[in-house]
Amino acid sequence: MIELRTLRQCYGDHTVVDVDALTLPEGGLTSIIGPNGAGKSSLLGMIAGLQSPTQGQVVLDGQDIVRVKRDSFARRLAFLRQDNTINARLTVRDLVGFGRYPYSKGRLTDHDQRHMDHAIALVGLEPQQHSFLDELSGGQRQRAFIAMVLAQNTGYALFDEPLNSLDIRHAVGVMHLLRRAVEEHDKTVVVVLHDLNFAARHSDRIIAMRDGRIVADGPPEAVIRTEILDDLYDMKLQVVQQCGRPMVDMFG
Ligand SMILES: Nc1ncnc2c1ncn2[C@@H]1O[C@H](COP(=O)(O)OP(=O)(O)O)[C@@H](O)[C@H]1O
Ligand SMILES: [Mg+2]
Repeated sequence: MIELRTLRQCYGDHTVVDVDALTLPEGGLTSIIGPNGAGKSSLLGMIAGLQSPTQGQVVLDGQDIVRVKRDSFARRLAFLRQDNTINARLTVRDLVGFGRYPYSKGRLTDHDQRHMDHAIALVGLEPQQHSFLDELSGGQRQRAFIAMVLAQNTGYALFDEPLNSLDIRHAVGVMHLLRRAVEEHDKTVVVVLHDLNFAARHSDRIIAMRDGRIVADGPPEAVIRTEILDDLYDMKLQVVQQCGRPMVDMFG
């Protein structure tokens, strides 16, 4: 379980995250939605231990993450950043191998290689696995980063806008594999999404953020509602029901 306690991130006098309490129990797929600048990436960055909160704590399975050893943390929680650029000239397989670092410390065993094979296959990059990242399309590169996180094989996996640059088929494919991770492997997945229909379709829970605060939190049918979305995005969005699930009509 991940617990956030009076978590705040401030830059100067600008508070960009202000969350009194939030619990993410084990299991399930939680989506975080909200406009640009809402604080979604800052929130995930603090949960992943990449940025220190100005105030408050992130507690992972009962322990403040500042007290969890980096190796142990990396075997329990993986994070795909929104801006995952890498300067070194690496192949897809090299990159995915980084996901095994918390286990292998750089000496990849056969067991590590099997995890890498599996992750590469899940994102459909077997044909490109020996290609350099700078030889790939944006979407292929994004899938390589997703495979790196999957290879880390952690109980908790956080993805900040993982569908960026993906075509519709691969976006659907990634959401399906995240759902499978939840249902078949009991993973806990937290994902920042901009596509509200993907969030509505695939999430167990949706957290809506605006101006650093959580303004709605619940199952899709409780959050994907006209009155909530209008306030969240400052625009009129029509929600229709399709097969018992809410769907946003962007042109409504
Ligand atoms: N390093 C930083 N220094 C100053 N302001 C920052 C920094 N990082 C983020 N911010 C600000 O924090 C707010 C939230 O940013 P972010 O968490 O990236 O939002 P989101 O991911 O929801 O688009 C924005 O107003 C952004 O300008
Ligand atoms: Mg962001």
